[in-house]
Amino acid sequence: MPLLRSVRGLFKRPTTQNWSGLIHAYGRWLPVSERTPVVSLCEGATPLVPAPALSQRLGRGIQVHLKVDGHNPTGSFKDRGMTMAVSKAKEAGAEAVICASTGNTSAAAAAYARRGGMRAFVLIPDGYVAQGKLAQALLYGAEVLAVRGNFDRALTIVREMADQYPITLVNSLNPFRLQGQKTAAFEVVDELGCAPDWLCIPMGNAGNISAYWMGFKEYHQAGHCRNLPRMMGFQAAGSAPLVNGSTVEQPDTIATAIRIGNPANREKALKVREESGGGFAAVTDEEILDAYRFLGREEGVFCEPASAASVAGLLKRADEVPAGSKVVCVLTGNGLKDPNTAIDHSGGAFHGDLNPDLETVAKVMGF
Ligand code: F0G
Repeated sequence: MPLLRSVRGLFKRPTTQNWSGLIHAYGRWLPVSERTPVVSLCEGATPLVPAPALSQRLGRGIQVHLKVDGHNPTGSFKDRGMTMAVSKAKEAGAEAVICASTGNTSAAAAAYARRGGMRAFVLIPDGYVAQGKLAQALLYGAEVLAVRGNFDRALTIVREMADQYPITLVNSLNPFRLQGQKTAAFEVVDELGCAPDWLCIPMGNAGNISAYWMGFKEYHQAGHCRNLPRMMGFQAAGSAPLVNGSTVEQPDTIATAIRIGNPANREKALKVREESGGGFAAVTDEEILDAYRFLGREEGVFCEPASAASVAGLLKRADEVPAGSKVVCVLTGNGLKDPNTAIDHSGGAFHGDLNPDLETVAKVMGF
């Protein structure tokens, strides 16, 4: 059956054959040894999806790909960092981990900690975490502490907790987090065969942009790519301390994942911008929602609002992208995490309360 065999071959993604997580795949680039007890949910190897509609919208031969990191086990890029942070915590004999989170870190910390037989404590800003993320933290068995205050306040508390009590901090201040997250840059290069010209990415605490840059630089140094990307970081206009150059006391945006006024990795991010010749810009909630809907309708890709900031930013700065460039937009989290925003802002056609008969249905359909 040669035809069947060749079709089967077509549907197989070579990079996921025997894939058992990014520590196994990229271990030689990571601070792990045979003694490290690897806590993994087979994270990584997420798809780099071509974005034909977006490429066409930009024109001038610009090719856009989407790094869909919402395909990770808990639905966000945080799993890349958490497999490392939790494995190293376990290696050090930790019994519990703690983080502050706008939602995704808490979901990942909960899943990996429990998988590794540890307790997980997560502090979240009460009322500002998308429903799916809260559901995950609870289901994975974390202790969820919702504080009256924003993410920045919660991070201050967990830093003090980790200083004073025997509990491991797994926010991106934990250096193993960024080590794990840098593997996304390796995957982009492995798949594209080069680094992109532009890498567009949303920024909150600016851990991920720093991790990507570390990954690109390491691969470049080892001769795996000849070029390095310009790192383009985007923040929501109401929470844009890195763009404004000063802390935002009351951050505000519909993209709750990046509702952060005092980024923990501020210095690192500024260095990334300088070294890469990149740029930071703010995008409004309206621009974020436009990009979010565009990705859903035109590309068939459902990401969360914070992730769409990378595409909103690209569209905003489109005039500066040189003709023929390769661009990668990082989609950091899965759209299903935030069903309420999708339902409220999809602009989709919902016809409710219909009589259950053919005539009614046909009429609504325009026949
Ligand atoms: N996109 C999503 C979906 C996020 O959840 C986050 C951060 C970011 C982008 C920004 O990444 O902080 O490395 O610049 N979420 C954290 C959390 C703060 O608690 O889940 P960053």
